[in-house]
Amino acid sequence: MPKDKVVVVDDDEFMRDSLMEALQRPDLNVVGFSRAADALDAVSDGSASVLLTDMRMPEMDGMELLLEARRLDPKLPVVMMTAFATVETAVEAMKRGAFDYVMKPFKAEELDLAINRALERHRLITENEYLRDELAKKFRNADFVGKSAAMKAVFEEIRQAAPTSATVFIRGESGTGKELVARSIHAQSPRRGRPLVKVNCAALSAGVLESELFGHEKGAFTGADKRRIGRFEMADGGTLFLDEVSEMDLNLQGKLLRVLQEKEFERVGSSETISVDVRILASSNRDLEKSIEAGEFRQDLYYRLNVISVELPPLRERKADIPALARHFLERHRREEGVRVRDVSDGAMELLCRYDWPGNVRELANVMERLVVLGRADVIEASQVENALPKNAARGLFKPSSGEAPVPDGGGGEEKGAAFRIRPLDDVEREFIVATLRHFDGARAKSAESLGISERSLRDRLKRWQEAGLVGEV
Ligand SMILES: Nc1ncnc2c1ncn2[C@@H]1O[C@H](COP(=O)(O)OP(=O)(O)OP(=O)(O)O)[C@@H](O)[C@H]1O
Ligand SMILES: [Mg+2]
Repeated sequence: MPKDKVVVVDDDEFMRDSLMEALQRPDLNVVGFSRAADALDAVSDGSASVLLTDMRMPEMDGMELLLEARRLDPKLPVVMMTAFATVETAVEAMKRGAFDYVMKPFKAEELDLAINRALERHRLITENEYLRDELAKKFRNADFVGKSAAMKAVFEEIRQAAPTSATVFIRGESGTGKELVARSIHAQSPRRGRPLVKVNCAALSAGVLESELFGHEKGAFTGADKRRIGRFEMADGGTLFLDEVSEMDLNLQGKLLRVLQEKEFERVGSSETISVDVRILASSNRDLEKSIEAGEFRQDLYYRLNVISVELPPLRERKADIPALARHFLERHRREEGVRVRDVSDGAMELLCRYDWPGNVRELANVMERLVVLGRADVIEASQVENALPKNAARGLFKPSSGEAPVPDGGGGEEKGAAFRIRPLDDVEREFIVATLRHFDGARAKSAESLGISERSLRDRLKRWQEAGLVGEV
């Protein structure tokens, strides 16, 4: 076990020596200083677990040391020592972030108690930070799925942008994963231990959005019955995600631009200037260039936001991602619901891959959820997928695919259309044959025999299906 470093500061040499002696414990490494400035050096690298300081000292006093030390190492618990006469100062110190105080003269047990509580606090905070870190790592690895070249490029862009403080503009159709990109950038950035705050610019009216972003003072407008902190302040030290920024009104765009340039602003109804350290991410599912042409979006703001741009292609342009995404959502819902479905049949997967997904990944996630929750068997079959997709789309997917008897389309009237609802039988046959081949490790002769067809007939079918892109290598 590494020892906990306890930093003791007292200008009175006798007092300091007796404190250090009282704290002689195998689990502690105690270092003493007579000057606050020297103690700051000792805590600046984040290696200390507790700071124990006297209040009244020449040069820098305990209060100042408290503030400086907490600025250098925000997780450091500070214990103040005060004489009875200055108990008010102790209360003031607590308000300013001291963890505890002990009143002089104190007994060894009192000191021990205060130190132990402070150590415990430090341990909790450190643990918490570690867990958050782990969570951030986990998020990065497991939750953002993509195997296509396009997504690999996106991951690479994220990896490069994340460690910087640069503004990132994330574009893509609705449901392509813009919010995931924002979360992933934050989670991989040095700001990951601080909040990621999101504002949906499309959901709020201009006035509400302004006070949401910048906060307001009590009485700033009717209904402002208390002071409220805005999202910019909440995100201090962290990241602010301006979702659907294209929907912000022009006037507010001007105010936002000023904050981005000057990194400071005022709460609504206040003249006090607040400065913050916030990294900005913004998203839009609209073509901002068009909005600029139409005079709906400020070009200068666009340049400010578009320092780095990440573009998510629609799912139909990266169909290679569909199988992995489908399995990802299946697993997720399966774990959540404790249902029996555990796989997707080849035929079902094929259908999922052929559909165009106008709602992108979100639509796929929803369809998978429905399939998993409603599924009664271990495996999701093609017919279930057909039912889960919009009717017109599904019919389109079942157009004649095997080059057999031509299927009248449309002109055949309702009766015939209904008769052709048996088309999925083809899929059933195909699935069955592929499964058999897999079972026999691709051995044609054995598979044909077990299926009760000639080897040649099996080969012909496979060839036809492969040419139509319905079956991969088996
Ligand atoms: N590559 C992906 N891997 C895993 N899940 C994804 C992926 N892309 C999107 N999702 C999931 O799809 C859903 C929609 O994604 P998200 O909310 O990030 O989209 P969006 O682009 O912000 O959409 P909108 O423009 O409608 O706000 C979420 O549940 C998200 O977790
Ligand atoms: Mg979104």
